[in-house]
Amino acid sequence: KRVILAYSGGLDTSVIVRWLSERGYEVITYTADVGQGEELTEIPQKAKASGAVDAIVEDLKEEFAREYCLPTLRALALYEGRYPLTASLSRPLIAKKLVEYAEKFGADFVAHGSTGKGNDQVRFELSVWALNPNLEVLAPVREWEFKSREEEVEYALRHQIPVKATKDKPYSIDKNLWGISIECGPLEDPWTEPPEDAFEWTVSPEKAPNEPEYVEITFEKGVPTQLNGKTYEKLSELILDLNRIAGRHGVGRIDMVENRLVGIKSREVYEAPGATVLYKAYQDLLSLTTDRWTFHYFLTHIPHEYAKLVYEGLWFSPLRTALDAFTESIAQFVNGTVRLKLYKGHAQVVGRKSPNSLYVEDLATYSEKDAFDHKAGAQFTKVFGLPLKVLGRVKNAHSGS
Ligand code: ARG
Ligand code: SIN
Repeated sequence: KRVILAYSGGLDTSVIVRWLSERGYEVITYTADVGQGEELTEIPQKAKASGAVDAIVEDLKEEFAREYCLPTLRALALYEGRYPLTASLSRPLIAKKLVEYAEKFGADFVAHGSTGKGNDQVRFELSVWALNPNLEVLAPVREWEFKSREEEVEYALRHQIPVKATKDKPYSIDKNLWGISIECGPLEDPWTEPPEDAFEWTVSPEKAPNEPEYVEITFEKGVPTQLNGKTYEKLSELILDLNRIAGRHGVGRIDMVENRLVGIKSREVYEAPGATVLYKAYQDLLSLTTDRWTFHYFLTHIPHEYAKLVYEGLWFSPLRTALDAFTESIAQFVNGTVRLKLYKGHAQVVGRKSPNSLYVEDLATYSEKDAFDHKAGAQFTKVFGLPLKVLGRVKNAHSGS
């Protein structure tokens, strides 16, 4: 029995390696670099020390940025209007790789370390089944005997599984280049303000510089290609640089209570400095370059629906493919540069330009250059307002007599 396990190198997944081995599985671990900013060179050695027969480590940063973050940005998808779906996006990619390696190594099983009350289990399993319905998914954390972290540590020590000696923060953290999600510990009380030590990529607005910083982002057909005039071959690198710039101004902190798929509400804190800036820039350029009907249709129908499907684990669904075709078509208009001002936790768009801008100064101006036909305004208003005029007349006729 062979299994490919999504392995982070943390306590849970290290214990899973041993736990599965004890039950007769040959465990191959899979670890992805999705821009979490952690050194992965020691992962294979650690996995093998825990009992893995083989350990795969792969750099997926660019694939993650291009194939997962970019389509989500182009949909301006934010779960419940706020969460840029950082953790939700990495699960389908990792699941896809688990499936690929299971097929390559002839494994009938894949495994993950998610709990039974979270969203991640759903995302992993739906993604795996969509790609290969014959694979069986194991989720040891949902069924094993350990009732606490202490019991896991005790088991790990008993089996010479390497556990970090350093005192961990009380938080459960998930990181990738699109952002960080922080849960547990003091955050479980939704009334408690997140302590400063919960954050990694952003400073508090109080500690941010007293001088604003301007940043310019250039898009070509909806793809961010330049940051402050510098061209990036790799989108992942642009995002990582933008995280650093926006993070030092405290941009991109999100604190919310959200609806999980399993029916509970949970308090979640996120840091997504780069994504926050990119969403603002993208929306601004979209509004400059698309006609009113297209822009309104987009805002009404796409961001919420797309966010919901990503959150709910439907990445590998025909609906996502279809929505991507729509946003890709609209992304062709998104060319140009947006200038933002970063200052003490805020990112404010302060300028935008585009070769295909629909803003026509001669039409918009209130100066003597004005080319708008004002007389047409009177006729337009008359016709547009006709239904209300009729309503008013009917109402008066009934109340007047
Ligand atoms: N609530 C977020 C989501 O569902 C964050 C999940 C974080 N996952 C984790 N294993 N810590 O996408
Ligand atoms: C987990 O329970 O594995 C993490 C939280 C989540 O998936 O929402």
